Amino acid sequence: MTTDVATAADALRAGKLVAFATETVYGLGANALDASAVARIFAAKERPLFDPLIVHLAAREAIGEVCNAVPPLAERLIEAFWPGPLTLVLPRRDVVPDLVTAGLPDVAVRVPDHALARALIARAGVPVAAPSANLFGRVSPTTAAHVMEQLDGRIEVVLDGGPCRVGVESTIVAFDAGERPRVLRYGGIAVEALEAVCGTLALPQAAARHPGAAPGAQPAPGMLEQHYAPRKPLTLLDTLAEADAAQRAAIARGTLGVLAFRGLPPGCVAPVIETLSAAGSLEEAATRLFAALRRLDAAAVAGIVAERVPDSGLGRAVNDRLRRAAHA
Ligand code: TXA
Ligand code: MG
Repeated sequence: MTTDVATAADALRAGKLVAFATETVYGLGANALDASAVARIFAAKERPLFDPLIVHLAAREAIGEVCNAVPPLAERLIEAFWPGPLTLVLPRRDVVPDLVTAGLPDVAVRVPDHALARALIARAGVPVAAPSANLFGRVSPTTAAHVMEQLDGRIEVVLDGGPCRVGVESTIVAFDAGERPRVLRYGGIAVEALEAVCGTLALPQAAARHPGAAPGAQPAPGMLEQHYAPRKPLTLLDTLAEADAAQRAAIARGTLGVLAFRGLPPGCVAPVIETLSAAGSLEEAATRLFAALRRLDAAAVAGIVAERVPDSGLGRAVNDRLRRAAHA
């Protein structure tokens, strides 16, 4: 673990793997233009090759290094939200290896809003491909210690930039010629904020709410129904108030841990509880979500009962992660 940008940048240039802080979650980076370095990301994470990677740039001016064309609506979003937790899926240049895009004609790009991350990428002098720095399918890391828990021994360097400010991954928006832009993943920029800049967006359909959807239908490659999963089984309720008698008893005994939004409903007792935001802030809930899931996973409980948060703003990203964490 280091806080030295030069050491981390040298490692990237040498084709090694470097985990680094961003404002969303920690990323596991490699030189995006070096296919063998990128291949090591997939090996370290045990990630399937069909799941493409986001390319991180030091500044928006670098977009021409990896993208062929930037449509006017994408320009507007870049102007408004970069650096920041917004990823755009745009036509790629041939220099981008197939492994990065899983063979797709488009590449996902963003400029992180974290000074250390941008200093790292600038100093390395190459675009940096980076998924979240966790084992595939598991809870994303929001501290350097979280990265070490899952990837120690598999990667060369962790650049410690402190706890992540946003706490959930970037919002991903794709552009198809002639169609309205599509949100592929809810994340750190609220859809409402995006729509205020670029008009109505097509939204991902929550598979659980559309039982008629084709099995395996995915809003984006790699967006699997089970993801962000703790090892303990997680049950997702609309509100904790709807826990049944057996659940309430197990919660009171400490057999089940609780992930609450603002706190417990009246009459409910819970020795093992994580509260996302007593004040009811969806931003705070997003920031705290993954660390809270990790603590509950490590606690002496058999399972976790969580409740949904209000489905607006960053609440949509929180609910998306909870739904996938609950999918057995
Ligand atoms: O905030 C974030 O986005 C973090 C930090 C590290 O930047 N990164 C992140 O990466 O969440 P990852 O690998 O966990 O999720 C990337 C997802 C893929 O699973 C896929 O759904 C989508 O981005 N994606 C990447 N490239 C794509 C492409 N060419 N077309 C469509 N979707 C793509
Ligand atoms: Mg991930």
